[in-house]
Amino acid sequence: MCGIVAYLGHREALPILLKGLQRLEYRGYDSAGVAVHNGQLQICKIKGKVSDLQAHAEQFDLHGHVGIGHTRWATHGEPNDINAHPHTSGHGRLTLVHNGIIENYATLKKRLEEKGHVFKSDTDTEVLVHLIEEVQEMGDLSLEQAVRLALNLVVGAYAIVVMDAKDPGKLVAARKASPLVVGIGEGEYFVASDATPIVEYTKKVVYLNDNEVATITLDKGLQVHSLDSIEQPYETHEVNIDIEMLEKGGYDYFMLKEIFEQPRTIADCMRGRMNAREGWIKLGGVDEYSSRIENADRIIIIGCGTSWHAGLIGEYLFEELARIPVEVEYASEFRYRNPVIRENDVVIAISQSGETADTLAAIELAKKQNALVYGIVNVVGSSIARATDCGSYIHAGPEIGVASTKAFTGQVTLLTMMALSLAHKRGTIPKSQYQQLLYELEEIPSLVEKVLEQNRQIEYLAGEYKDAANALYLGRGYQFPVALEGALKLKEISYIHAEGYPAAEMKHGPIALIDENMPVLVIATNQNHHDKIVSNVQEVKARKGQVVAVVREGDNVISRIADHVIEIPAVADPLSPLLAVIPLQLLAYHIAVMRGCNVDQPRNLAKSVTVE
Ligand code: G6P
Repeated sequence: MCGIVAYLGHREALPILLKGLQRLEYRGYDSAGVAVHNGQLQICKIKGKVSDLQAHAEQFDLHGHVGIGHTRWATHGEPNDINAHPHTSGHGRLTLVHNGIIENYATLKKRLEEKGHVFKSDTDTEVLVHLIEEVQEMGDLSLEQAVRLALNLVVGAYAIVVMDAKDPGKLVAARKASPLVVGIGEGEYFVASDATPIVEYTKKVVYLNDNEVATITLDKGLQVHSLDSIEQPYETHEVNIDIEMLEKGGYDYFMLKEIFEQPRTIADCMRGRMNAREGWIKLGGVDEYSSRIENADRIIIIGCGTSWHAGLIGEYLFEELARIPVEVEYASEFRYRNPVIRENDVVIAISQSGETADTLAAIELAKKQNALVYGIVNVVGSSIARATDCGSYIHAGPEIGVASTKAFTGQVTLLTMMALSLAHKRGTIPKSQYQQLLYELEEIPSLVEKVLEQNRQIEYLAGEYKDAANALYLGRGYQFPVALEGALKLKEISYIHAEGYPAAEMKHGPIALIDENMPVLVIATNQNHHDKIVSNVQEVKARKGQVVAVVREGDNVISRIADHVIEIPAVADPLSPLLAVIPLQLLAYHIAVMRGCNVDQPRNLAKSVTVE
């Protein structure tokens, strides 16, 4: 949450900061601000989006070659101009941007107030910048020394960048449990919450580790120290992101672009990792730890939001195919409920961003108890990718729309490959079934393409249901998590209340809600127990509910009862979520657009949740 960008070099800082903030807007978009040094410190900040900041900035002289910027997702203090970052210290010397939460801010604030500090905002961030100045002025310290000492007094999570008006050729950045990347160009440096604002200028990046403080000047370059002032070595990485990946490429919204990218992203996830004709699956990360994973007593899958839904599909896959018991947990619950974790458990952490605070904390807990932790992550070099013992990237490329789409299908593809590989090695499915599933899996990208061809029809359906106040999503077996994911997509971007339910559970409560105004989306592609889902559809129709059913091609039983059907190609049940979720993504998208919602930046949400 909150995006940070900073620049030091020979170019004008402001355009780099503004463009960088736009790239980071998925992290938060309730207010934004920049500070530039051009002989004196100039600050411009405003409630609203980066585009509002851009317009506002035209009134100021913000020329200069060093600056910091921020786009905010409020934690302490409502989103307004005053609470927007950057924040300045009491004497106006320091200015700082921050992502995270200072947990002991109240104690620190009280102590600073006793020393005469006066605060303008309600934020924990302002307390931090006052603290750094207090420490700096007490000991006549350099900025980096003051930052290191002050951070030793801080409890919480942070990624910060600070500038000192008395030493304007320097940026000091630090992180703990919030991401920060330093970009190294030719005679110029960048700092950002992720690499997306940087790749346009340089592909060389350094990922800061927790409790590290980076000092950047043009003459000495980048220096990294621990909080106790010991110089730290760092590695430079090459990032593999092209600018086109960060643009909308002709689509109205990133979300639509990302939905349509799925044939390619699913294929990219499988590329080089399996070959149906030759009958093999090879996941680098799994192979290295294969005997521990194959012999796991139990798999525990942790994640949040959409990643948790992918985990639920993983549970069905691992249990049915590989016969390994699985538990799926919200990371936020797992970390606080003192779970039983044993050495022979394998924990799979799923995260698109690789930065979700609860998932990271849950990983630490599992590692402390000696479980093997495997990461399924999209963002390369992210904190979760680095915190896990081993893992696989899903290779979906940058996902910018706040509602996750291509990351979900990437996660499910990866879990499917893992489950099939384990099933094969453990001998829990017949060779012929393994082979058949591999062939079908390889076909999924072209089948997704076929489902996407129904975009117009789904847009028409969206028109029919755009004014609904509620919606119910039902599914059985593999399609139950798909129902949850479909409902999540609808509520997060269109603000229609939607619930996902196991189809058979409907009669234990939600059936009371059904009347002629209630659209019920039934994901009814199941080969197994098809008659059961037919009964569920009939139960809805008997109460005059409007049924939109996602069915397998040629299903003329449900087609006769449902009000509308969306047909998807027939595949084996374990692979069906990869196809069935596509129409639900499109439906949510079109409904949200028709309701005038900002699909890529839904209210109150952020893509990367780096606070608890
Ligand atoms: C936020 C995002 C969701 C995402 C969830 C977990 O809520 O809006 O789209 O599923 O975080 O994020 P992660 O990056 O860990 O998958």
